[in-house]
Amino acid sequence: VQLKPFNTFGIEAKAKFFAEISSIEELQGILQDTDYQSVERLVLGGGSNLLLTKDFDGLVIKMAIKGFEVVKENDENIWIKSGAGVVWHDLVMHCVNQNYAGMENLSLIPGTVGAAPMQNIGAYGIEIKEVFEELEALEIATGQTKIFDKQTCNFGYRESIFKHEAKGKFIILNVTFKLNKKPSFHIEYGAIKDTLSEMQVNDLTIKAISDAVIHIRQSKLPNPAEIGNAGSFFKNPEISKEQFEALKAQFPSIPSYPVNENTIKVPAGWLIEQAGWKGQRFGNVGVHAKQALVLVNYGGGKGDEIKDLSKKIQASIDEKFGIRLSAEVNFV
Ligand code: EPU
Repeated sequence: VQLKPFNTFGIEAKAKFFAEISSIEELQGILQDTDYQSVERLVLGGGSNLLLTKDFDGLVIKMAIKGFEVVKENDENIWIKSGAGVVWHDLVMHCVNQNYAGMENLSLIPGTVGAAPMQNIGAYGIEIKEVFEELEALEIATGQTKIFDKQTCNFGYRESIFKHEAKGKFIILNVTFKLNKKPSFHIEYGAIKDTLSEMQVNDLTIKAISDAVIHIRQSKLPNPAEIGNAGSFFKNPEISKEQFEALKAQFPSIPSYPVNENTIKVPAGWLIEQAGWKGQRFGNVGVHAKQALVLVNYGGGKGDEIKDLSKKIQASIDEKFGIRLSAEVNFV
């Protein structure tokens, strides 16, 4: 099966076996199927955080469990349970339209609901952990389902237990979110404030915030339907305060966000732009002209070409700033 339609980088790679899964029973069936017992597995959501560097000689499981419903409600909150295969932005739009607050800053993030907790997706001052209640996952070894609450998921910046101890051991089936009937607006992020005032929004609503976020994303981030990409390629690195002060002396305009007393986060996009990579094209691949943190496939690019480019960028950032960038996308 050709995986090009199943990864937003638009990389051509083949999977030996491929199964689209619409229910837990189907998933249990395929995991028990003796034909696939000894082959490697790759679980796919929207394929939007993935770099395929070669053909996959195993079973690709494309999670397509659909549907969402309100499962609980009180005066302040509403709980929505969603299948893993629901498109993240569709769920966000539903909540925004129903006036359920909490996800509006996460509008237009590519990918599926089931993939979202794996890396604790985040944007514009909000992470999924803030609206997360629990998820249900299938344990591959036992075929049993297990509930993970917020604590167990061990969320961090683009991190969760599913990238560490639980990696490759569970398949997320559904996720329950706790939303608010009374919104609390998160517009601290500079670009949101600017966009809201450009849009001349006087009455702040979650719809207005969602519209502003969509506007910002569309202006900076390439649409994967047009140019292959997987959003931010690297994580924003966290460095010590001492290292930051030394860099600041050398590069006074370096932007920063405090993480805690001793740690500072710096935007990788800024580092990459300063090192001269922004907008550079190498054959079919390159660095996006409007957001240096996004690597792109103009069409026909190979996973290895993107990987090589990312290694060169890493080496160059290391040399210029003494910072080692780590990839945010998963290499397969
Ligand atoms: N910047 C530059 N040049 C660039 C890009 C960025 O100088 O080419 C600097 C600017 O100073 C800007 C700052 O970096 O103010 C931050 O840029 P931006 O607001 O675009 O966000 P980011 O830090 O590059 C992160 C997330 C994005 C998320 C945005 C908005 C990571 C790895 N990325 O990017 O998430 O949408 O913030 O909150 O944390 C993703 O994970 O795939 C993703 C797109």
